Order: sequence, then C-alpha cells, then structure tokens
Amino acid sequence: MITGAIAVMTSGGDSPGMNAAARAVVRTALYEGVKVFGIYNGYKGMLEDDIHELTSRSVSDLIQRGGTFLGTARCMEFKTVEGRRKGLDNLEKHGIEGLVIIGGDGSLTGGSMLSKEGGIPIVGLPGTIDNDVWGTDYTIGCDTAANTAVDAINKLRDTASAHRRIMIVEVMGHTSGWLAMTSGIASGAEYIIVPEVKYNIDEICEDIVESYAHGRRYTIIVVAEGACSGVGLKNVVQEKTKIDTRVSILGHIQRGGSPTLEDRIKASMLGERAALALISGVNDVVFGFDEGKVVSINLFDSVNNKKPLDPELVRLASVLV
Ligand code: F6P
Repeated sequence: MITGAIAVMTSGGDSPGMNAAARAVVRTALYEGVKVFGIYNGYKGMLEDDIHELTSRSVSDLIQRGGTFLGTARCMEFKTVEGRRKGLDNLEKHGIEGLVIIGGDGSLTGGSMLSKEGGIPIVGLPGTIDNDVWGTDYTIGCDTAANTAVDAINKLRDTASAHRRIMIVEVMGHTSGWLAMTSGIASGAEYIIVPEVKYNIDEICEDIVESYAHGRRYTIIVVAEGACSGVGLKNVVQEKTKIDTRVSILGHIQRGGSPTLEDRIKASMLGERAALALISGVNDVVFGFDEGKVVSINLFDSVNNKKPLDPELVRLASVLV
C-alpha cells in the first residue's frame, strides 16, 4: 500500500492518448490522497532528476492533445546498471514509492529492470501506435494512428485514380503489421503487405497488370515499414508492371494529432486502473484490454513475449482485400 507518493512518466515513441492516461493517473492519485510526481523526458529525465510534483491543474487542457506533456526521449545511459541505479536514487530522493510507465515494449522492459534491480513497484501502460505489446488487444494511440493512416489513404486514392497510378503507402508499425493491416482493410486497399504474412511480388504485379487491362483506374498497396521499404517496393512494382507508380511514406504524421474518442476513453480507464493498482500495492503488471475489458498482464510476460498479428485480421484481409 502506498500512502506517500507515486510518479508517472512517458517513454519511447509518443502516441496520441498518452496525455489522457497521465492525466488520469495524476487525478486518481490525488483523489486517493497520494502525491504524484511527473518524470519529464522519459528515462533521461529520471537520470537527470527532471522530476517535479504535479497538481490537478498541471494536467488541465491536455486530454485533447497529442504528443506527451511529460516529454519522452531515448536514453543510452539507462541501458547500463549504473544508469538505472542513478535513476532509482533520484526516485528515492523524492520519496517516490511506485512508478507508472506509459510506453511501448522497450520502455516497459526498462521498467521490468528497475523492478528487478531496485524492487520499486512498477505498473505499465501500453503506449505506442504500433499495437504490438503482448497480452493486450489495444495500445494507447493505435486508434488515432490508424485513423490518420486511413484518412491519408483516402486522399491518396483520389490522386491515384485521377492518374491511373499505383500508389504504395508505407505505414509505421516497427516490426508489427497491425497498423498496415487495420488501415489497409479499413481503407479498402487492394494489397496489404505485412511482416507476419508471406507475399509474392511477382503474383501481385501480374494481378495488377491484368486488372488494369480490365479497366482498373488505380491500385493502393499498403506496406508496413517492417515488411519492406516503400521506396524499394515502388521501384520493383514500377519495373515489373510498367505502370506509373508513386510512393507515399506517411511517417511521423501517424504519431501526432488529437486523440480519438476511443484513445481518450481507453487511456483514461487505463490511467485510473494503473494508479489505483499501484497505490493498493499491486506491482509488476501492465494494464491493457482484452475483448473490451481492462485486464492485467504480468509485466515480465508482457515484455518477454512477441505479440502475433491477430489471425482474424489476416483472415478477413484474405477474403476482402
Ligand atoms: O514505436 C513507434 C514508432 O513510431 C514506430 O512505428 C517507428 O518504427 C518508430 O517509432 C520510429 O521511431 P523514431 O520516432 O525514433 O524515428
């Protein structure tokens, strides 16, 4: 049971909804009569003692904003035992008895090390547009990112159709194909290429040539960055089909923007659960969603396993795409 203070931080790539989650952690802890500190700029800030007490006002006017007001950073020093010791000492200095970490699998792995080496209670929240954290159907920000990709693909289809072009759209996702698969299905892409599913580029190109011969005006190929580079694919497709081909790399635009309703609500639910659990003495867990309900996952299981792409999405794409 924690009665003194907890801290909250965001780490790794930012994702829309991180602010909503941190806000919920702060307001829940204060409601429970526990102090809350914000650790700014991820593990880097922890090591540099960029740690400040937060009030309810500190998290006003945030739920609608993308990015993370706490900031985030990549930190090499945290990868060393000495670095992590420095971070733990700073937490102790502020009387911080437990920590909520909002981030992807790399950030949660960092949390599992702090727990193992320093014994500090850790509760993780999956925050990444990639939706690749094991044990949860959902990660904070994935819905906004997928909607951003769908919106972009809709626009790219207009211009592809006008010119009878093939449009290759490279989406993010690190090594996961979730973002490509969901945005591809939702935007009616003709082909979706993800790292988890084998594809045959010769067959795809033959198919495209035949469909153009039958009057097709455009082709959209959504490719996950983890499967292959959009530029490389464009060169191969243009060469094999002899059809005018363009590539659009959506890039970091997918990480920004005001979070969707789903991301705001789910992030708020997760933030509340994380603070309540930490305060009541739970540790080494990650909260996520399973079939629409908040669930807790063991932190070590979550970081030591690779989440597979939902086979139902793969099956659906094989029928509809
Ligand atoms: O993990 C989120 C993510 O946006 C991935 O989809 C992408 O591969 C990576 O981060 C990009 O990282 P950075 O912002 O450091 O270039």
